Amino acid sequence: MEIKERGNWSSQFGFIAAAAGSAVGLGNIWRFPYITGLYGGAAFVLVYLLFVVLVCIPIMNSELLVGRKSGKNALGAFKELVPKSSWWIVGLMGIIAGFVILSYYSVIAGWATAYIFKSGAYMAAGANPADVFVGFITSPVTPIIWHAIFMIMCIGVVSAGIEKGIEKYSKILMPALVVILLVLIVRALTLPGAGAGVSFYLKPDFGKLSAEGILAALGQAFFSLSLGMGCMITYGSYLKKDQDIPANSYWIAGTDTAIALLAGLAIFPAVFAFGLEPGTGPALTFITVPAVFASMGAIGHLFGILFFFLLTIAALTSAISLLEVVCAYFIDEKKWNRKKAVWIMGFVIFLLGVPSSLGQGVWSSYKFIGGRDFLDSLDFIASNVLLPLGGFLLCIFIGWYWGTGKAIEEGNIGAKGGITLGGGYRFLIKYVAPVAIFIVFLKSIGVF
Ligand code: PHE
Repeated sequence: MEIKERGNWSSQFGFIAAAAGSAVGLGNIWRFPYITGLYGGAAFVLVYLLFVVLVCIPIMNSELLVGRKSGKNALGAFKELVPKSSWWIVGLMGIIAGFVILSYYSVIAGWATAYIFKSGAYMAAGANPADVFVGFITSPVTPIIWHAIFMIMCIGVVSAGIEKGIEKYSKILMPALVVILLVLIVRALTLPGAGAGVSFYLKPDFGKLSAEGILAALGQAFFSLSLGMGCMITYGSYLKKDQDIPANSYWIAGTDTAIALLAGLAIFPAVFAFGLEPGTGPALTFITVPAVFASMGAIGHLFGILFFFLLTIAALTSAISLLEVVCAYFIDEKKWNRKKAVWIMGFVIFLLGVPSSLGQGVWSSYKFIGGRDFLDSLDFIASNVLLPLGGFLLCIFIGWYWGTGKAIEEGNIGAKGGITLGGGYRFLIKYVAPVAIFIVFLKSIGVF
């Protein structure tokens, strides 16, 4: 039988750049700062960190080791490890989640890409940032064109394969992202009056930490770390045996969390320094932030371009991982060649994104889950339901079906000794993580 070359990460840095690139995305820069501000600052951050350490890192290890052990995509991995069972359904759910998330993710990423070019020009013309943003996203055609442009960039990277596509671009884009973020933070923190923003962002307020806030923290942790949908299974499948899974998991989770926290420091101090109201949701990124840069005069123009470039890079390295999850399935299981899988799936996902874009304007009267528009409804289902559910089932799979013994054995191959999987991992994946997810779920549907 012919053995097809699936590709591998060529180096540890390349893998970390790609996996951290997947993790660091719109979730960190666009979502984390505003939900932190919304649900009680440092109080929310504390709960978030607990979820990262107790729930998400064990799941990250598990996904990576399942991927490496099986050498397969999210669905094929379960078929390979436990052939005569129905666990592949968990993989299928993940692939569907990836499909759904990328469809609307690319719409928002398209806005960010457009703003690299638009924000400065509008500011120079003295336009009101709120009018500009609303005018832009409600128009029927332009945002869809940007959504298409963004999808084509993803397709370009993913079709070049693992080492020559995803790894190569991540190795350039991730360091660029860190540098730009640091420049923006230095600028924000040195503005007079920046302190008020820091305290708004991080002052603990346990009163604002509702049950909804706790669910949001869990959903955000899964979303931000790209967990619960087979992304790390897929990326893990390109790992060689000598690569250190436990250490890599810490690197990925640590980078992701640090960048999320730092993103807030690039935004809130500047917002408060100029006496603006911090908006929530997209308004913070696309209205308040441009308003901040407009207040800085000519140099603000440059910072505006840098900020949206940062957002676009972050989104791109995440979006390629979403596309890879979907395509790896068609490549492994359906024997499609990479180009065919990437172009066909990229196009279908683009089409599913169109209603998310139109829902901002011409279709805005259509409401779905809890009065949300199409985009927010997909986001709610994906991040607050599908991802935690996928993570929960993976804990059950490892802890109670496949066995932590096998998981620990695989996970420690290549571990250089600094951190290894053992009793702590076993306890977290068997009991703590699934119980925590379960309780948050019950609470969110109002059981107690
Ligand atoms: N982690 C990415 C972000 O924070 C989004 C993502 C979710 C990417 C799931 C891949 C898988 O923006």
